[in-house]
Amino acid sequence: MTIKRIGFVGTGAITEAMVRGLLTTPAYVSEIYVSPRNAEVAARLDAEFDTVFVAADNQDVVNRSDVLVLAIRPQIAEEVVSGLVLKDGQSVISLIAATEHRKLRNWIAADVKIVQAIPLPFVADRQGVTALYPPDTEVAALFDVLGTAVQCGSKREYDLLAAASAMMSTYFGIMETTTDWLAAHGLDRAKGQAYIAPLFASLAQRALRPDVTSFAALSTEFATIGGLNEQVLSDFETKGGREALATALGRVLARIEGA
Ligand SMILES: NC(=O)c1ccc[n+]([C@@H]2O[C@H](COP(=O)([O-])OP(=O)(O)OC[C@H]3O[C@@H](n4cnc5c(N)ncnc54)[C@H](OP(=O)(O)O)[C@@H]3O)[C@@H](O)[C@H]2O)c1
Repeated sequence: MTIKRIGFVGTGAITEAMVRGLLTTPAYVSEIYVSPRNAEVAARLDAEFDTVFVAADNQDVVNRSDVLVLAIRPQIAEEVVSGLVLKDGQSVISLIAATEHRKLRNWIAADVKIVQAIPLPFVADRQGVTALYPPDTEVAALFDVLGTAVQCGSKREYDLLAAASAMMSTYFGIMETTTDWLAAHGLDRAKGQAYIAPLFASLAQRALRPDVTSFAALSTEFATIGGLNEQVLSDFETKGGREALATALGRVLARIEGA
């Protein structure tokens, strides 16, 4: 265990996921302080874990923490962060989406270390891949406990992975569209869902195997020439699917970089 006291300003979905991952046995931190908002999540974590404490307010979280995690939404970030008095040398991990390092630095008067990170909900099960920037051994070690840390060598690299992380809903959207289509053609929706979920899970597992050289190679491997998979991929690519995806990623990157 290398972190004694970690605090979270913003006790929402991603904080709950991180807290659960950090306190999975063997726990990685001794004490966790969470801000009182959201009251329900804070109370749940407090009730479940002896080592989670609900702080009096955001400043109380700062005062009690060696490592401070900012986990609030971007819309209120300036108001909340500029109202905090941090300690020189404090370690800050910002999860705030589309809010770059320079802005955070302007809002924080103290001489702190700031690392940006994009943990995903899977950190709750210690299976999340987390991009972080700038590279930092201490923060990478924390996210390696929660899955796998990817240290980005440049802001551009970090922004690109942030854009890629916006694919999560579309992944499930493709599953839902397929299930919708099955249902529209007469298959019981529950049966469709029970088929699609393990199909996609197996494909994701296959992509993780160390022998995989590229996704293109996998795509070819799973598409028999003249077969059904090849036909769907070809339709997807020629009827605007690939273009729609590239455009969406470009738009989300522009939003991230424009922040
Ligand atoms: N969820 C993810 O997978 C994920 C992944 C990476 C990064 N992020 C980023 O992490 C941040 C948090 O995301 P989230 O999904 O956890 O959002 P969330 O569930 O909405 O949590 C944010 C929390 O902030 C609380 N809050 C509101 N005003 C506050 C204040 N003045 N002081 C302290 N806390 C306050 C809210 O409490 P109330 O409910 O009482 O308003 C809410 O519980 C966002 O910037 C998001 O983009 C999220």
